[in-house]
Formats: sequence, C-alpha cells, structure tokens
Amino acid sequence: MKKLWGGRFKEATDQLTDEFNASIDFDRRLYKEDIKGSLAHAKMLEKSEILNEEEYEAIRSGLEGILRDYEDEKIDFSETYEDIHMNIEALLTERIGEAGKKLHTARSRNDQVATDFELYLVSACDEVIDHIKALIKTLLELAEENLDTILPGYTHLQRAQPITLAHYLNAYVQMFLRDIKRFKFIREEDLRECSLGSGALAGTTFDIDRFYTAELLDFKAPKANSIDGVSDRDYALDFLQACAVCMMHLSRFCEEIILYNSVEFGFIHLDDRYTTGSSIMPQKKNPDLAELIRGKTGRTYGNLISLLVTMKGLPLAYNKDMQEDKEPVFDSFDTLAKSLTIFERMIATAQFDKEKMLEACKLGFINATDLADYLAAKDLPFREAHEIVGRIVLFCEQNGRAIEDLSLEELNGFSSLFNKDVYDAISLKKMVDRRNVYGGPARETEENLIKELKKQLAKI
Ligand code: ARG
Repeated sequence: MKKLWGGRFKEATDQLTDEFNASIDFDRRLYKEDIKGSLAHAKMLEKSEILNEEEYEAIRSGLEGILRDYEDEKIDFSETYEDIHMNIEALLTERIGEAGKKLHTARSRNDQVATDFELYLVSACDEVIDHIKALIKTLLELAEENLDTILPGYTHLQRAQPITLAHYLNAYVQMFLRDIKRFKFIREEDLRECSLGSGALAGTTFDIDRFYTAELLDFKAPKANSIDGVSDRDYALDFLQACAVCMMHLSRFCEEIILYNSVEFGFIHLDDRYTTGSSIMPQKKNPDLAELIRGKTGRTYGNLISLLVTMKGLPLAYNKDMQEDKEPVFDSFDTLAKSLTIFERMIATAQFDKEKMLEACKLGFINATDLADYLAAKDLPFREAHEIVGRIVLFCEQNGRAIEDLSLEELNGFSSLFNKDVYDAISLKKMVDRRNVYGGPARETEENLIKELKKQLAKI
C-alpha cells in the first residue's frame, strides 16, 4: 500500500515497521477532534482563498459523512494508514477525490495532532469537573444529614478528638474543590491557546489566519511560537498530575472506608451493590471497589511519570516519541472518571452506624484535651494542665476507668481546680460545640460552611 508520504521512497516499508509505527489502535479515540480541527482548518483555507468554495464544500460534507459513518459503525479505520489523521485524510480523498488532497495545505500532522490532543483535553477536563461536582454534591448532602453525628477524629490512627461526620466529609469536599481548580487551570490557562497553524515547526508560507481557526475551535488565541506550538505537552502533564492528585484523594478516602467498613470499626456499612463476596468464605462482604480505586491510583502516578520521562530529553521540536503521550492520558482519564462515578455511588448508598461511632468516642480518652483545656481556662498554664491530665489518663488506664466516670473526689485528688461543671465540659456534644473556631466542627460553623460551599458549587 502506497503511503500518503510515499514520494521519496523507493521501497515499501517492512510490515513490522508499519505495525510498530502505527498508533491508530489508540488514537482512533481522537476521531471527533481530528474532524473538528480539519473542518476549522478547511473553513479558514476557504476564507483565506487558498481553497475555493466548491473544494471547501466537498471537504466539509466529506468530513461530516465520515464522522456520521464512523459513529454509525459503517466504516472502520485501519492500520494501513498509521494514525487517525492519515486514516481520515485517506477516507476523505477516497470519497471526494482531488479536493481531499488539498486539506493538508498549510498544515502538518505535528500541529494537527497537537490540536486534536488540545481539543480532547478540553472536553476531558470538563467531564472530570462534572464528575467531581456530582461527588461534592453528594458529600454535602451527607454532611447536612450528619451535622450531629459524632465520631472520633484520628491522628496516627489513634482516637484523638471528637468531630462530626459532617466535618469529616467536608474535609474531602475541600480536597475535591481544589481538584476542580486544578482542572480549571488546565482548561483555562494551559489550553488557552491553540497549536493549529504551527505547521511542522516553523509555521507556513501560506497566508493563513490562525486567529480565525483558534476562534472557530473556541480557543482564546493561537500559540505564539510555532516551535512551542508543536512541542508543548504541558497541558497533558498537568492533566496527568491533576488526575494523580485527585486519585490520591479518592484513595485516602477509600482507605478509610475500608477501615471503617471492617468489623473492628463498624462505622460504615457498604451497600450490597458496591461490595463483593469471597469464593471460599461465605461470611465475607468485601470492599473491593474501594480497594480497586486505591489500587488504580498507582497506575495514574505511573502515567504521569511515564510522560515526564518521555518528554525529558526531547530536542525541539516534534519527535515521534511524543506519539507515546496519548495512552497515559487516556488511561488516567478513564481511571479517574470511572473511579469518581463508582465512588459517588458507593458513598451515596452507604449506611453510617451512628451508634458505633458514638461508642468509639467513649473509649480512648478522647476528652483528654478538653479536660486539660478546662484546667487551662481556670488559669493553670496549659503545660501543667497537660501534665495533670496525663496522670489522670495513666490512672484510668491502670484501673480500667474512663475519665468521665471518675468522681469529683477522685478528680480533686489530681487538682483542686476541678468542679462539678467539669462533666459538662467533657461531654461529647459540648466538646464538639465549643470548637466553633472558623474551620472547626461545631454545628453552626459547619452549617454555615455547607451553605457557603453549596453557593460555591453552583458557580462552578
Ligand atoms: N501519530 C503521530 C503522533 O501521535 C502524529 C504526528 C506524526 N508526525 C510526524 N511527523 N511523524 O504524534
């Protein structure tokens, strides 16, 4: 088969060369973007009087026909034409003849592929942002329902201080909001400008209008330097890094769900639809999906490293190495989009065991800080209060007691500053409600924050 670039070649390529060189297996995913880019390019060529109206019309209807037929599964792309760009151009020429061969005027595959990838990433960012928004919405609803659900907050995975479930869930809302900002940055800054018209690397001798194609494709401007135009993959790298960070957030959340779903914690019960059984142990209900999301996080880190390493030694401008940019991006996008969807369903259908959470607060001296704060509020220097409470905890530990069960007399044995009101000060509800500092778990603080977050979400 004669190649579209066959002019200077005497011999046909080895079959293995074709196989190794081909990217159609994976870059067929860019068919829509490739056609969109070509339509804009052709329209601009006509406006610039490089194509006549008839030629443009033939190209336009030809490309639209290919799009329709591919989506209706009437045609398929093949390895004969290496990549998506060559496939579409060959099909077009087959269908409309001479005019098809003019489409590539004032363009190279180097700026063409960059443009396709830019267009693809714009929609990928939008799609990911929509998934994250849906998850945040669910988390905010759950938070609203759980403003008074108290559970232990942990440090070092040791019970530390009481928090509410709303407060805990909102911690993840903050992370996901930052993720949205990262994807927005890519969409609005990294992908502000379009590569089309950069040519192979040095622009073109034709009098083309790059601002017009950029506008047609919804970019703010064309890229300002043609070498950078075909060499830049920062937007893909930033996308891979944003995916990796978002997966890391999901993975931490999953890790906690796995722990909280265990009999040892029993805080959360995952719905049957989002758990699986064991082939040997009949009693098992495993949090496989949470584990898989945690597991898949690794491959998104790998994807980022893979493209960083591909790019690190490349001389300007285009090198074929850059064909390796697509698979990591497709994989990270698929992994993140699916993980977000499944995670949202898993958390939305989970049952929270409020009793178990409360129960867990009664163990582990979760009120020790508040007891020290109580003494410090009576003007005892905090370090001394800490020391006294430390001794109380030791006493309790040795005697199998809880702080709140000690009598006032027993407490006074450690400090005469203790009064009857101490029991109120270390009651779970009070401990949470008094933490009404901005960013803290108190009911009112949390309620205000949720209102604020809902407004923020509506504006995204
Ligand atoms: N399939 C190639 C890629 O994905 C398209 C660009 C090829 N350009 C070239 N000069 N060989 O990067």
